[in-house]
Amino acid sequence: MCKGLVLGTLLTSFMLLLYSYAIPPLQVSITEIPIPYSCSSYPTQARMPVTANGTHSSPGQACLPKFDVMFMKTHKTASSTILNILFRFGEKHRLKFAFPNGRNDFYYPSYFERSQVQDYHPGMCFNIICNHMRFHYQEVRKLLPADTIFLTVLRDPAYLFESSFHYFGHVIPLTWKLLGYDNNMNANSPLVDQYIQEIDQRFHLVMLLEYFDESLVLLKDLLCWELEDILYFKLNARKDSTVSKLTNELYEKATSWNLIDAKLYHYFNTTFWHKVDAYGRERMAKDVAELQQKNEKMKSICIDGGHPVDANAIQESSMQPWQPLGEKSILGYNLKKKINKKHRKLCRKMLTPEIQYLTDLGVNLWLTKLWSHVREFLKW
Ligand SMILES: *[C@@H]1O[C@H](CO)[C@@H](O)[C@H](O)[C@H]1NC(C)=O
Ligand SMILES: *[C@@H]1O[C@H](CO)[C@@H](O)[C@H](O)[C@H]1NC(C)=O
Repeated sequence: MCKGLVLGTLLTSFMLLLYSYAIPPLQVSITEIPIPYSCSSYPTQARMPVTANGTHSSPGQACLPKFDVMFMKTHKTASSTILNILFRFGEKHRLKFAFPNGRNDFYYPSYFERSQVQDYHPGMCFNIICNHMRFHYQEVRKLLPADTIFLTVLRDPAYLFESSFHYFGHVIPLTWKLLGYDNNMNANSPLVDQYIQEIDQRFHLVMLLEYFDESLVLLKDLLCWELEDILYFKLNARKDSTVSKLTNELYEKATSWNLIDAKLYHYFNTTFWHKVDAYGRERMAKDVAELQQKNEKMKSICIDGGHPVDANAIQESSMQPWQPLGEKSILGYNLKKKINKKHRKLCRKMLTPEIQYLTDLGVNLWLTKLWSHVREFLKW
């Protein structure tokens, strides 16, 4: 028993070390070869510069789907669900993803570098990047074509750390850090507002977890995608993610403890509703209702029992969600045994967890997988 514990601790430390430091790619000096303006397969696509606020198509107006997308993944914001949407879209149109090599993230907390991309060479055309990273705008810019649409998703930071507030008090502005800024900045520095403006200029759409369906409708409009492309099931939901227990007082405290992220959220909450207004409130309500209705229909077509289940009740190992460190509470789904031919493929893809989907898309995940085997071995 004691021996096992020591062995386990040693192995774990070793794995953690390996995971944090495993072969950061060699820093070779990169010769610049220009990437095409667009890496979508419509060579004739109008060469209009993409502006962060001016891409709305009016209803009924024909548009061409956009293929070049940068999605900045953030914490506890249903990012896995959005990744599933991007994976499906990328597969459907045979797009080229910029994936990391050996693991499922780009060496967080190091800054993103192009050399971390699997099979990268200068001048290469990539359509989509969406794995976890610490954002480095200039590097991403040099990787992706000029017509790339930048997306991210935020949530009210008071709830982001709800479970940890009781223990920690002050928390680092994690989203701020992910977006590439100094997490030790003074929240009242004028630089904070300046950087928020910078984020606003860089990202064409900042979605909100609290208005997820509205966000997806805006996404579909911005990218000129089809309704089927944004259908989703909630992936990676936690068992105990019940209704918030934050009192008003604790909410205020939590906000002041993480003031930079709170300012960021406040700013983009405002711009979000401006976008909804520009889209049209009524049109939005109608489109959200349609999305929800289609999602419900897919649920009844695809999911056994119609709801997510505990990991140990999932029959197919390929449907087993990845459990983050120290957790066993991520729920998953069982695919229905009998699904009509028309929906079979879509159902399976919509329910495939992130790690399996990455593998299906050809990502080498040796480090991530080794880690999960060690944990399985230790029954942790
Ligand atoms: C986009 O934003 C810029 C400034 O941020 C503004 O000057 C311009 O008029 C806006 N364009 C549209 C179409 O709203
Ligand atoms: C976000 O904006 C909406 C609409 O203006 C408002 O009702 C809501 O209280 C805001 N949320 C936060 C957390 O500021």
